[in-house]
Amino acid sequence: MKPKEILVFGASGQVGRHLIRKLTKSNYKVIAVTRNIHQKGYILKTQANPGYLEIVELQTFDTEKIESLIQGCSICINLIGILYEKKKNQFNNIHNYFPSIISKLCSKKKIEQFIHFSSLGIENATDSIYAKSKIDGENSVIKNFNKSVILKPSIIYSVDDNFTTNFMTLLNRLPFFPLYYEGNTKFTPIHISDMVEIIFEVIERKITSEVIECVGPEELTFKEIILKILNSIDKKRILIPFPLFIAKITAKIFEKFPKPLLTTDQLNLLKYDNIVSGQYKTNFDLGMNSNKIFENEIEKYSFNWTTGGQFSKKKASSR
Ligand SMILES: NC(=O)c1ccc[n+]([C@@H]2O[C@H](COP(=O)([O-])OP(=O)(O)OC[C@H]3O[C@@H](n4cnc5c(N)ncnc54)[C@H](OP(=O)(O)O)[C@@H]3O)[C@@H](O)[C@H]2O)c1
Repeated sequence: MKPKEILVFGASGQVGRHLIRKLTKSNYKVIAVTRNIHQKGYILKTQANPGYLEIVELQTFDTEKIESLIQGCSICINLIGILYEKKKNQFNNIHNYFPSIISKLCSKKKIEQFIHFSSLGIENATDSIYAKSKIDGENSVIKNFNKSVILKPSIIYSVDDNFTTNFMTLLNRLPFFPLYYEGNTKFTPIHISDMVEIIFEVIERKITSEVIECVGPEELTFKEIILKILNSIDKKRILIPFPLFIAKITAKIFEKFPKPLLTTDQLNLLKYDNIVSGQYKTNFDLGMNSNKIFENEIEKYSFNWTTGGQFSKKKASSR
């Protein structure tokens, strides 16, 4: 049978790479869109068997080119997202304007399904530009195309992430670690393999017109997450609750860096729990249970950050 074609924007990111593997192994053909085929092509082309993956470069939001790409596909997935603003990369452009263009074109071309990635825990974060742009994007998508599905994940983690792996590096190097808001903010981390299963189910079950909050099986505070990571990399560090005014000053300094560790907007967002809102269905409500336990999963790759690497005594005895 000729494979169904799925167009994926933001395919080279953490979710995209794992998703391409799952989809192409399941007889879907993926058209992966990237801004830089020379830089990202080599990562992308190793994710699928020949014939199941096509890589397309799109440097600007070129409506004509996007329309011709959508024209040939059955399903479109938007994974493009940013964590901080730089020059022309503004939250509203990326999280609202772009999904608005795609969803209008999906409607015009009458495709089967549009899956758009937003974020969990943003409804009350009125002082975060990131949160506002994601909410505006959701509203645009819902308004423009009735066969859309909006997925709102909590933090997605894996050996490929920018979250646990960054913390492992920082905790390895710093003698102390700052806790913002006393480390009390709650998260529901979801492992990438569980996240990809949810997307796959949404496609296989042909779900449309739905907003789904995607969460892992545990609710953990920021401090609990840091303690689990410390335990996993076999390090002891002093955790210092930062008063808000110091946190704001450090964020102001960090946000000047090309890849900021923390921005003022992220600090604002960190105030709000990243847990189910009760407003929407969750993956559990739809029988798409996530079951990967944070502590167990990070243990599988944290040895890269322990003294002695894979030969470290702790890891050797616990494996
Ligand atoms: N990871 C998480 O913990 C998490 C949590 C909540 C929500 N989300 C949302 O889930 C989606 C996927 O997450 P992810 O972790 O896979 O994202 P990611 O790795 O940060 O990035 C996804 C891709 O977006 C593309 N991109 C970035 N900036 C762009 C820009 N200015 N213009 C066009 N394309 C751009 C990049 O592809 P190219 O460089 O190849 O163009 C990048 O690989 C995002 O919308 C994110 O906001 C993620």
